[in-house]
Amino acid sequence: MSPEQPAPDPGALVAGQRQHWETTFAANPQMYGTEPSEAGRSAASRFAAEGLSRVLELGAGQGRDTFGLLGAGLEVTALDYAAGSLAGIRDEAGRAGLAGRLTTLTHDVRQPLPFADASFDACYSHMLFTMALASDELAALAGEVHRVLRPGGLCIYTVRHVGDAHYGAGRDLGDNLFENGGFVVHFFDRTLVDRLAEGFELEDLTAFEEGDLPRRLWRITMRRR
Ligand SMILES: C[S@@+](CC[C@H](N)C(=O)[O-])C[C@H]1O[C@@H](n2cnc3c(N)ncnc32)[C@H](O)[C@@H]1O
Repeated sequence: MSPEQPAPDPGALVAGQRQHWETTFAANPQMYGTEPSEAGRSAASRFAAEGLSRVLELGAGQGRDTFGLLGAGLEVTALDYAAGSLAGIRDEAGRAGLAGRLTTLTHDVRQPLPFADASFDACYSHMLFTMALASDELAALAGEVHRVLRPGGLCIYTVRHVGDAHYGAGRDLGDNLFENGGFVVHFFDRTLVDRLAEGFELEDLTAFEEGDLPRRLWRITMRRR
């Protein structure tokens, strides 16, 4: 950043993330590729194996995992605050004859989820919890996921963690949030994982890597009590 351009304040950076995602997705129509992620594939087969059907996907992005979940025969509600990418998912689902099992919803997860209690059997989220969300906002979101899942329902989410090579790099916004290249990432520690598991049985935490960076992630599986 040049001396004439002061860095935006942290609040403005966080507030600008939605527009940043919309613009980035518009410029990169297949930003994460078209194939389901490893995390998405494994969640889809786990949900199908357990006979779960109604799945809420938080932070669906351009839908690579949405199609993995639909392909496993599941009924998917794909939520994101980037409306343009959701429109792309709807169009593609229509072409593939899968629109009947897909609902899309433009929504910011910092607001309560607009669903009735116990409306879903499962929740899946690849890298949404690791976005520009403060710990208190994440705890509120986990509470909302708990509310909309039926008792016994499964939540599988992935996050970058404090062992990631980018942890500590870029602009420190506090609360383990760092800005790099315009994107704000919340790097999880184990304390935060445990905090979000309140009201759930924490079944599993698996470390894995994705992409060329590579991103170092945790896949967290928890069951609603
Ligand atoms: C790292 S991308 C992952 C996208 C997708 N899950 C995937 O793996 O291909 C994070 C996604 O979360 C969405 N997102 C970030 N903050 C959000 C918020 N507060 N509410 C809703 N969606 C949000 C972004 O628009 C983006 O689609």
